[in-house]
Amino acid sequence: MRKFVIFVPALFALAACGGSEQSEIAAPEAETATEAVEATPAATAEVSGEKSFAKCAACHKVEKGAPNGVGPNLHGIVGKAVASVDGFAYSTAMKAKGGVWDEATLDAYLENPRKVVPGTKMAFAGINNAEERKALIGWLEEQK
Ligand code: HEC
Repeated sequence: MRKFVIFVPALFALAACGGSEQSEIAAPEAETATEAVEATPAATAEVSGEKSFAKCAACHKVEKGAPNGVGPNLHGIVGKAVASVDGFAYSTAMKAKGGVWDEATLDAYLENPRKVVPGTKMAFAGINNAEERKALIGWLEEQK
């Protein structure tokens, strides 16, 4: 009889312990899964124009008054006349292009520079991802 009395609380303790352990393990797993599901679409939808500009930065500066590099300074380029940055030696092809850099002409040029301005001396293959071009042009538009 004495043995039985000791054994019963022990069982209760075991049951209680097992129950709480289970919920403790389950909770963090569920949280992680939710976070992963939420993080994925946000990460793919948000293409950063500023990050994308890293592809241009070897040749272009955007800060106001910064010197031209291999390519002209792109400060305020959205809305600016083509080949109009002071002191930059453009190719004959770029000088002949004419017009203004707006969202549409920039989008086409950045997708395939040599197709839009055959003979351009901008040695850049282009950006295939339309969303990235859009983000980059949006960011360039803010640099003025
Ligand atoms: C390897 C160097 C290089 C890279 C990288 C490069 N460019 Fe250029 N870019 C040039 C040169 C050189 C010119 C002048 C082209 C000409 O005269 O034909 C130019 C011209 C331009 C023009 C026309 C400017 C004007 O005043 O009419 C724009 C816009 C432009 N680049 C945007 C970009 C963007 C945005 C990127 C990044 C996605 C980029 N470039 C990457 C070298 C580069």
